Amino acid sequence: MATFNGKYALITGATSGIGNELAKLFAKDGYNLVIVARTESDLEGVASGLSSIYGINVTTIAKDLSLPNAPFEVYDEVKTRGIKIDVLVNDAAQGQYGKFVETDIQRELEIVRLNIMAYLVLTKFFLKEMVARNEGKILQVASIGGQLPGPMQSVYHATKAFILSHTEALVNELKDTAVTITALLPGPTDTDFFNKAGMEHTKMVQEGTLSDPAKVAKDGYEALMSGDNKIISGLKNKVQVAMSNVMPDSVAAKQVEKQMEPSEKEK
Ligand SMILES: NC(=O)c1ccc[n+]([C@@H]2O[C@H](COP(=O)([O-])OP(=O)(O)OC[C@H]3O[C@@H](n4cnc5c(N)ncnc54)[C@H](OP(=O)(O)O)[C@@H]3O)[C@@H](O)[C@H]2O)c1
Repeated sequence: MATFNGKYALITGATSGIGNELAKLFAKDGYNLVIVARTESDLEGVASGLSSIYGINVTTIAKDLSLPNAPFEVYDEVKTRGIKIDVLVNDAAQGQYGKFVETDIQRELEIVRLNIMAYLVLTKFFLKEMVARNEGKILQVASIGGQLPGPMQSVYHATKAFILSHTEALVNELKDTAVTITALLPGPTDTDFFNKAGMEHTKMVQEGTLSDPAKVAKDGYEALMSGDNKIISGLKNKVQVAMSNVMPDSVAAKQVEKQMEPSEKEK
C-alpha cells in the first residue's frame, strides 16, 4: 500500500510501455490517477492492478486522442467528475515508418493530431488551472527524435521537435510561477511502439540496444519531481544528441538513415 497523498495525476498512454511505467511510479508514491488510452479492457486491467496493489483511486477514460474533439472531451470529463489535476503527463503518441512520398497522409494527420494537438489541448487547459493555483507539474514525453533528422520517420520526428520547441517556450513563460514543465527525451526503448509504427524489421530495433521502459520512466519521473526542464534518458542517447548538435545535418541524417535500414536478421 502506498501512503495516500490526495493528489491526482492524469496520464495519457498509461496502459503500455513508458506511460505504464510512469503510472506505477505515481501509484507507488500515493497519487490517484486518471488514465487515458483507447483500449477499455487495458485501462480496466491497469486500474484494477494499481488500485489493488497501492490502494489508490484510478479513473479510466477510453478515448482515441487522435480524434479532434477527444482531448476536449477528456478535459470535460475530468471537470464533470470534479477532479483537480496536480500533474499532467502527456505520453500517448505514435510513429509511422516509411518514405514520406509513400506513406498514407491520413495516417500521418492522425499522428499529428495525437502527438501534437492532444498534447497542446490538454496542456492548455490543465496549465491554465495550475497557473491560477500557482502549483502543478507537467511532463511532456518527447523523444531524442525531436533533436535528430528523421529519415523514414519524418512526421514522427517533426511532431517531437514541435513538442520540444513548445515546451522550451513554456519553461520561459512559467519562470515566475511555481508550475514546472519537463520534457522527457527517451531514445529507442523496448515497448510496443515499433510494432505499431511498422519498424520491427529495422537495424535500430533488431541490432540496437533498446532502453528499459522502467528506467526511462524513472528518469522522467525524477526530473519531473525535481522541476527540471529537460531530461535525455540514457548516456548513449545523451551522446548521440550532443554529437548530432556539432555535426552537419546531412551526416546526422545519414546515421539515422542507416539505423532505419532493414536488418539482415530479418531477411
Ligand atoms: N518506444 C520508444 O522507442 C520511444 C522512444 C522515444 C520516445 N517515445 C515516446 O514515448 C511515449 C510512449 O511510447 P511507448 O513506447 O511507451 O509506446 P506504447 O508502448 O505503444 O504505448 C502507447 C500508449 O499510448 C496509447 N495510445 C496510442 N495511441 C493512442 C490514441 N490514438 N489515443 C489514446 N491513446 C493512445 C496506447 O494505448 P492504446 O493503444 O490502447 O490506445 C498506450 O497506452 C510516446 O510519446 C513516444 O513517442 C518512445
